[in-house]
Amino acid sequence: MIVAIDGPAGSGKSTVAKMLAERLGFHYLDTGAMYRSVALTALRRGIDPDNEQGVSTIAREAYIEFIHESGAGVPTRILFDGEDVSVAIRAPEVDDAVSSVARLPRVREIMVVRQRAQTSLGDLVAEGRDIGTVVFPDAEVKVYLTASPEERGRRRHAELYERGVHVAREEVQGAMAQRDNADSTRKAAPLSAAADARIVDTTDMSTVEVVEAIAKMVEADR
Ligand code: DC
Repeated sequence: MIVAIDGPAGSGKSTVAKMLAERLGFHYLDTGAMYRSVALTALRRGIDPDNEQGVSTIAREAYIEFIHESGAGVPTRILFDGEDVSVAIRAPEVDDAVSSVARLPRVREIMVVRQRAQTSLGDLVAEGRDIGTVVFPDAEVKVYLTASPEERGRRRHAELYERGVHVAREEVQGAMAQRDNADSTRKAAPLSAAADARIVDTTDMSTVEVVEAIAKMVEADR
């Protein structure tokens, strides 16, 4: 069974998807981490994030591995060509470059093939921007999470602060709005809710409430 969770930055996708996977005993797939790893590598190699040929070579050749330290379905680390990039891919420079990388059709084609291969693990909770529309259009449960821009900015700011990245809230909100705009207006697989996705506005909901709501959808479908 596949549970597809899409939505903009700060909608609560990652926290919800991980907790849901744990609760259901499913594997968890963070597709954003894959795009982030490619963007990080392009930055490190001095390859322009808009250079489709250069970036798609990285996407095709890289060895991407999710490490499950606890043996459970939710990986705790991502290895890119053998290097643990779990922390580096969350840096603000990567935030800035990743939308350019994720806009490139050839990069997306490669990523989608690699993401579909993860079904060999078994039941999956997959999160991203195009999971219900492109990667797994036949997913049994599709959810599109949203929240108000203010709440999403507040969450992202808190998340960065916790990691020791101190940036003004307004700056975080501005960068997030820019990225959402780029992700929603690009030609290749833009961020959008699948026609058959259930839309959940998480602005006034706790993580546990959101997880419970989706778990009920899964149980109803089993
Ligand atoms: O979810 P995230 O913030 O880690 O995603 C990082 C970027 O990758 C974001 O700008 C959107 C893009 N992305 C995408 O285009 N398609 C996906 N399936 C996942 C992420």
